[in-house]
Amino acid sequence: MKQIAPSILSGDLLNLSREIELIEEAGADLIHIDIMDGIFVPNITAGWNFVEAINEKTSLPLDVHLMVDRPERYIEDFIKAGADILTIHQEACIHLNRTVERIRELEASPGVAINPSTPVAALEDILDYIDMVLIMSVNPGFSGQEFIYASLFKAEKLFRMINEIELETIIEIDGGIKVSNIAEASNSGCDIFVSGSGIFGTENYSETINEMKRRV
Ligand code: DX5
Ligand code: ZN
Repeated sequence: MKQIAPSILSGDLLNLSREIELIEEAGADLIHIDIMDGIFVPNITAGWNFVEAINEKTSLPLDVHLMVDRPERYIEDFIKAGADILTIHQEACIHLNRTVERIRELEASPGVAINPSTPVAALEDILDYIDMVLIMSVNPGFSGQEFIYASLFKAEKLFRMINEIELETIIEIDGGIKVSNIAEASNSGCDIFVSGSGIFGTENYSETINEMKRRV
């Protein structure tokens, strides 16, 4: 099933409660929350208390994207705070297998993200252990950047890899997704579409999300 995940930190930061209501009404399937540590990426956002506050406000599943160095230090906190999907970066975690197993043990759904320069081959031996791969289609750190088209080839390659070994791993794409390119991302095998400025930068979230759903 194709799902739309608005990236909440692209919303009006002083009115996030209202933004959550609006995307819920508009038909969002998940809420994507970007956690940045100023080390793995050149930007800082929020901690697990932010996830906890959002969890109290919404019944939508929380898709938490940790752009954090050595994420194993924080997985327990984010899962306790309400993360349903917890995604860590392949580049940020030395013991990826151990960390992913720990996420599952704590009853969240494990995802692994790769940066634009990381080949999908780097995921070969972890695919069997995770529920989702997040393909970054911008360099992580900021909302509003331009979509990197080469990510679509990576998605296609990954989709083939997943099918060949008969897994059901979901592919999420994150960065620069808009109404104008969502169909291509969908045709490349992606299932979850994260969109920040592509939704929050538009006037009417319902119209935008409906149109995105129509196009995928
Ligand atoms: C980038 C984040 C994305 C970002 C998406 O580091 O992981 O989730 O907020 O924003 P847009 O859709 O504007 O690229
Ligand atoms: Zn993200």
